[in-house]
Amino acid sequence: SAAEKGGWKSFMAKEIAEEPEAVADTLRGRTADGRVILDLGAIDEALLARIERIILVACGTASYAGQTAAYALQQWTRVPVTVELSHEFRYRDPVLDDRVLVISISQSGETMDTLMATRWAHDQGAATLSICNTQGATIPRESDGVLYTHAGPEVAVASTKAFLAQIAALYLFGLQLAQVRGTMGDDAIARVVARLHAVPDAIREAITASECVPTIAHWMADTRAVLFLGRHVDYPVALEGALKLKELAYIQAEGFAAGELKHGPIALIEPGLPVFVLVPSPRDQPLLHAKVISNIQEIRARGARVLAVAEKGDTAVLPFADEVIALPLVHQLMRPFVTVVPLQTFAMELAEAKGLDVDQPRNLAKSVTVE
Ligand code: G6P
Repeated sequence: SAAEKGGWKSFMAKEIAEEPEAVADTLRGRTADGRVILDLGAIDEALLARIERIILVACGTASYAGQTAAYALQQWTRVPVTVELSHEFRYRDPVLDDRVLVISISQSGETMDTLMATRWAHDQGAATLSICNTQGATIPRESDGVLYTHAGPEVAVASTKAFLAQIAALYLFGLQLAQVRGTMGDDAIARVVARLHAVPDAIREAITASECVPTIAHWMADTRAVLFLGRHVDYPVALEGALKLKELAYIQAEGFAAGELKHGPIALIEPGLPVFVLVPSPRDQPLLHAKVISNIQEIRARGARVLAVAEKGDTAVLPFADEVIALPLVHQLMRPFVTVVPLQTFAMELAEAKGLDVDQPRNLAKSVTVE
C-alpha cells in the first residue's frame, strides 16, 4: 500500500534510499577500536585459522555480491576464494572437506538451490557460514554459523539494498579472517574499518549524483539493448547493472569485463548503442583508468553512446562520454557501494518510463523456493 511505501513511488525507490542505513546497520556493533568483533557461532577462531579455501555460493544478485567481495576477501586473507552459482556448484562434484568454508549468501535465506548447496556442502564435511537478511530463515538455521545483514525487510522483487549489505557483511568477515590469520597489520585493518564506516555517507552522495539518471533513462525508453563494462570490483557490478535492467525493464542487457571487449563484445557495438562504462579512479587506479579510457575511445569510435560512471573530478573521461555520472572519491575496494547506485536507479527509471511495475516484474519471484 501507499502507506507502507512511506511516500515513495515504489518499494524499490524506498529501498534504494535506505541503502546508506542498510550498510550502516550491518556494520553497527561489529567493530570496536579499529577491529572487527564478529560472533560467528561454530565458525570460531580455530576453524578460521585452519581453513584452506573459501567457496561463496548464491543465486542472482547475491551471487554478484559474492563475486564483488571475493576480490577483497582474497586480497586481505590470502585464502583462495571462488564464487559459484548454487545450482552449478552442487552438480559438478566439487572437492570438499573440512578445510573448506562454504559461505552461502541469500537475502531471503529460503532460495532452494542455495539451501541444497549448503546442505550438500555440510554433508561433504565442509564448514558452512550463511550471510542472510532474514532472522531464523532456513539457510542460516542449517548453517554452522550465520552473519546477518541488517538491511531491513526488502519488498521489491529485484534486490537492491540487500546487495550492498551483503558486500558489507562479507567485508567484515574478510577483516575478521585477516585478523585471525595475521595477514594484515592492525593499522591496515583499522584503515579499512574506517573506510567501511565512511561508506554510508558515500552512498548518500552517490544517490545525489544519480539525480541525473531519470532524465537519461527517459530519453532511452525505447532502447532495445544496453551494455555494461567494468573492471576489477566493478566487473561484477556491471553484471548486476545488466541483471537489474533485464529484470525490471525487459531489455537485452549484458555486462562484460572491460578487458574482454576486444575478445568479442566489441562486435556488438553499433551506432547509438548505449554502453555504461564504470571508470576506475584516476587517482587510485591510474593504470586501470587508462585502460578503460582506451576502451571508451574504441567503442565511441564505433558510434556507441557512452554513459560514464566515473569519479568526481575525472576530466580525462569528459571528451569521450555522452553523459558522466560523477561519484564521490572512495577507495577502489569500496567503489561497488557507489557505482551500483546509478545502475539500480537507471533500471528502475527505465522500467517506469516504459510504464512497468518495478516492484513486481513479470515472471519473477522475490524468493525462488523450488529447485
Ligand atoms: C530471486 C530474486 C533476486 C535475488 C535472488 C536470490 O531471483 O528476484 O532479486 O537476488 O532470488 O535471492 P536470495 O533471497 O537467495 O538472495
